[in-house]
Amino acid sequence: MLKIEKLTKAFGQNIAVDAASVAIERPQMIGIIGRSGAGKSTLLRMLNRLTEHTSGTIHFDGQDITALKGAAKRTWQSQCAMIFQQFNLVPRMDVVSNVLHGTLNRRSTMATLFNLYPTEDIHRAIDILDRLGIAEHAPKRAEALSGGQQQRVAIARALMQDPKIILADEPIASLDPMNAQVVMQALRRIHEEDGRMVIANLHTLDTARRYCDRVIGMRAGKIVFDATPDKLTTSMAREIYGAGAEFSESATSTEIEALDAQEKAKMEAEAYV
Ligand SMILES: Nc1ncnc2c1ncn2[C@@H]1O[C@H](COP(=O)(O)OP(=O)(O)OP(=O)(O)O)[C@@H](O)[C@H]1O
Ligand SMILES: [Mg+2]
Repeated sequence: MLKIEKLTKAFGQNIAVDAASVAIERPQMIGIIGRSGAGKSTLLRMLNRLTEHTSGTIHFDGQDITALKGAAKRTWQSQCAMIFQQFNLVPRMDVVSNVLHGTLNRRSTMATLFNLYPTEDIHRAIDILDRLGIAEHAPKRAEALSGGQQQRVAIARALMQDPKIILADEPIASLDPMNAQVVMQALRRIHEEDGRMVIANLHTLDTARRYCDRVIGMRAGKIVFDATPDKLTTSMAREIYGAGAEFSESATSTEIEALDAQEKAKMEAEAYV
C-alpha cells in the first residue's frame, strides 16, 4: 500500500530524516516514537507533501506521491488528512462549520465565500460528530469546547475528507489523560471500523503500546525500530530514546495508567455502596 524508500529531508546541513524506509502492506494503526528532534513530524509532513523531500520516494498503491503536482497533489493531501497537536480549528466558528471545512478541497470559491454547504454534507458532518460523541456541540463555537472535544472536531473534519490515511502529529500531547484516552480510542475505532490507516506521532511509549499494531522508533532521523509493540522492550526503548541507565519508562509515560487505576478504585468503591 504505502512504500517509503530512503526518504530523506535535509534542512541545510541538518538531516532531519535520514534515508527512512517503511513498507506498510495493509491499513494498520502505527505509532511513531522518538525523542524531540528525531524527525517524526518531518516524516509525517513529507508523507502529506506539506514538506518537500530532499531525496527518496513515497509510493501509495503504486502511485509516485513525491511526483504529484497541482490538483493531483491536493487530491493526495485530502486522502491523507492531518491532525495536529493544537487542533488547528477556527476558534470563533461553530463546530459544524469547522467540520465542513474538511470538504473545502472539492468546493468552489463562491460556495465557500457564501458558506453554502450542500444539505447532504451538513447531515454527514452531524453524523460524523455523532459517531465521535460530540453531536450535541455542533452549534457551539469551537473555542467553547474542551481540548479533547476540539481534537474530536478536528478528527471529524479529517473524516469529512473520507481519507485513506489519517496522519496525526502528537494528537494527544496537549490533552489531559482522560481526554487523551478518548481521542486515542476514537482513532483506534476509525482504524478498526473503517479500515483506515492511522499513523500517529506519539510522545509516550505506553500510548504507542496500548493502541498501535506497529511501532516505529526514530532516532536522529533514522528508523531504528519497526515492529509490533510486544517487541518494544525497555532496553529497545532506551536505544530509541538514546537514554542511558537513568532511562525510566515513566519519563515517557502519560498518566493514563494512573487514571485507569483511579477509575478502577472508584468502581470498586462504588461497588461497596
Ligand atoms: N522548517 C524547518 N527548518 C529547519 N529545520 C527544521 C525544520 N523543521 C524541522 N527541522 C529540524 O529537523 C529536525 C527534526 O525535526 P522534527 O520536528 O521532525 O522532529 P520531531 O521528532 O517531530 O520532534 P518533536 O518531538 O519535538 O516534535 C530537528 O533537528 C529540527 O530542528
Ligand atoms: Mg514533532
